[in-house]
Amino acid sequence: MNMRTDSLTDQRFGRVFPIFEDESAYFAKNIQVDRRADVLDIGTGSGILAIAAAQEGAEVVAVDRNPRAISFAMRNAARNRVRSKIRFLLGDGLEPVAGMFDLITCNPPFNITPPGQKGALFSDGGPDGLRLARRILRQAPRHLRPAGKLQMIVMSPGTGERPAVMDMVRRHFPHAMVECTSLFPPTPLRPILQATLKGRYPAFVRDLCSRYTTYFYLFITIHSGRRREVRWLPTPSFRRSRYAGSWEGRVRRRRVILGYARR
Ligand SMILES: C[S@@+](CC[C@H](N)C(=O)[O-])C[C@H]1O[C@@H](n2cnc3c(N)ncnc32)[C@H](O)[C@@H]1O
Repeated sequence: MNMRTDSLTDQRFGRVFPIFEDESAYFAKNIQVDRRADVLDIGTGSGILAIAAAQEGAEVVAVDRNPRAISFAMRNAARNRVRSKIRFLLGDGLEPVAGMFDLITCNPPFNITPPGQKGALFSDGGPDGLRLARRILRQAPRHLRPAGKLQMIVMSPGTGERPAVMDMVRRHFPHAMVECTSLFPPTPLRPILQATLKGRYPAFVRDLCSRYTTYFYLFITIHSGRRREVRWLPTPSFRRSRYAGSWEGRVRRRRVILGYARR
């Protein structure tokens, strides 16, 4: 795939999400899409997931709130010769969308962001990191065909072995089969919050850690047409980095995986 996006060091609020091996690139490789399927990609960013689906022969609708992302995604689609297979919409979540789909993909902003902290548009997941994920899980069933699938990457707080996002999955897809891959092993939440928030927002951290103990990084595929079951798949190893398989690894990898970013 021939892609351009903003670099990780770009500081603007509306910078376009770079492509990381253990996130968008992994998602793009694992999209479950059939030829001629109708696909909806929410929060398309650089367009990587929409383009991957279009390259498999799907007809795609791609939405983003960020006009800069839409403009990068359109140019990336043209670069990869699938511009005519993707309709781009500027808007908020599922609001601009009509119709039914075979597959919905979403890699939402999922960084835990205390009220008042201004993160990038692509990373601000609200106070539990699940703000957009929660909305998509609630609204997706109305836009999925009976055998439709929803695929999502998300970081979720949780307790013990139980990610909060999986409770939401069950609430909105009570009968579905769910495949779930931990992209790093579940990790204690508090040290991660203290590191990422640099010791600030102590009351916020105390409150969140009174409800949750653990942080999960999950790739989830929901099969609404298949019988209720949860399958946990093995954590993949990431070829390009010797730091794979842990939170610390992910943070260090962020510095080294800029393979697709504009130089
Ligand atoms: C983590 S990035 C993912 C980009 C791309 N899908 C990928 O996997 O590389 C999240 C994207 O969601 C977009 N976004 C954030 N809030 C949104 C909303 N309410 N509706 C639509 N898009 C949103 C951001 O602008 C950003 O492009």
